[in-house]
Amino acid sequence: MNKKAFIFDLDGVIVDTAKYHFLAWQKLANQLGIHFTHEHNESLKGVSRVRSLEIILALGNVQATEAEKNKWLVQKNEEYLSYLVTMDEKELLPDVPRVLAFLKEHQQFIALGSASKNARPILEKTNILHYFDAIVDGNDVSNAKPDPEVFIRAAHLVGVSNANSIVFEDSVAGIQAANTAQMISVGIGDPLVLHEAQYNFKDFTSLEDAFLEKLIN
Ligand code: BG6
Ligand code: MG
Repeated sequence: MNKKAFIFDLDGVIVDTAKYHFLAWQKLANQLGIHFTHEHNESLKGVSRVRSLEIILALGNVQATEAEKNKWLVQKNEEYLSYLVTMDEKELLPDVPRVLAFLKEHQQFIALGSASKNARPILEKTNILHYFDAIVDGNDVSNAKPDPEVFIRAAHLVGVSNANSIVFEDSVAGIQAANTAQMISVGIGDPLVLHEAQYNFKDFTSLEDAFLEKLIN
């Protein structure tokens, strides 16, 4: 029996949380007098919380002390978490439950490879935690995507080689991380943005069971 590791990014792949990250960052940026748009937000996808703040501050040429930065990081996260209070399985992106269920039925390993430190509560609230054989998140890694550490650790936890691992990602940094690890990279989102991915799908509704079967065999 061929057991592969299917590694999922969280924000923007499993749940539609990218919009909440954007709103929370935008609120902070506005407060600091920094113009922050959806275009700017693209470069924050897959990027750690600390690095995201640095990018925003650089956009506005804002210098800050460590104490100020820490205060803003807490403020942003509290704002972000306020959007998650009422979160449930309705926030799962379309066809995510079908894909997870298909992989489980076919006895494949399912893992999470996310930069987020809020990953576990999100998996719990959306009622999909039980699908995951391994979880590697922002609390576990020291090198952020595009470094492949997060995916390599996930594959290692389920005892599967990189070559037998498949990564689903909505960020450029995440696709680069998967490619560097010599895993199969599947872009979920705009194929023009994610052109470095080996395969591209707009979302999971266009990713059929036959494609998953092909990856398994
Ligand atoms: C990534 C998101 O998954 O996690 C980023 O794409 C986010 O936008 C990062 O900044 C860190 O998430 P969190 O929940 O720890 O602030
Ligand atoms: Mg993402």
